[in-house]
Amino acid sequence: MKIIRTKDYGEMSRRAAGILAAQVILKPDSVLGLATGSTPEGLYRELAEMYERGELDFSDIHTVNLDEYRGISPDNDQSYRFFMQKHLFSKVNIRPECTFVPNGEEADAEKACAAHEAVIKKLGGIDIQLLGIGNNGHIGFNEPGNEFVNETHCVALTESTIAANARFFASVSEVPKEAYTMGIGTIMRAKKILLVANGEQKAEALYRTCCGPVTPEVPASVLQLHPDVTVVADEAALSKIG
Ligand code: PGA
Repeated sequence: MKIIRTKDYGEMSRRAAGILAAQVILKPDSVLGLATGSTPEGLYRELAEMYERGELDFSDIHTVNLDEYRGISPDNDQSYRFFMQKHLFSKVNIRPECTFVPNGEEADAEKACAAHEAVIKKLGGIDIQLLGIGNNGHIGFNEPGNEFVNETHCVALTESTIAANARFFASVSEVPKEAYTMGIGTIMRAKKILLVANGEQKAEALYRTCCGPVTPEVPASVLQLHPDVTVVADEAALSKIG
């Protein structure tokens, strides 16, 4: 694992955006695996600015997202499709039909998950997968447990994830209880992984990811087994790693 230590969130965002931008420039028809959450907002802003300056062209890019809540419509402002539209897709020249987020409106979980997995295979796999990390070490919505699940699947969110996401909803009871998420195998098959993290609240999870045993109790720890992982994190998130 390569670790890039930054002084703060702004520098984390710029450095991580630079890595994604390099991917887009070097392989203009890349398949980008994308993530939602507070952490990548700054890097999407950076990418949009680079596009505005004429430095990036997304016209041949495809994107696949990690996850989506189950039972949510794309125009719900808490859906991950809505997040992606707002923070990236509406800001750059990506073709809408080339952006894939699991279909949260599809009630048939098996169908929704198989369709997402099929899209990734049809595109020839993911060139670079962007990841945030949960306070509990989750990646996508692969929550701590006793096994690594291979492909895109439906998960029940843990109490800690529901509590962490409640800040975006009117009340905790409105947070969806299930989600569709790429599996650990789906993520590990990406050619490159870029994990971003900031803030003290991620320090323990990041320490266990990079320095602890590989265990499904800390889903992100599996990344130790991937040959091309770059972690871009600020000092606070790296405070437990010497
Ligand atoms: P965050 O979420 O970026 O909002 O902290 C990360 C995650 O849970 O994967």
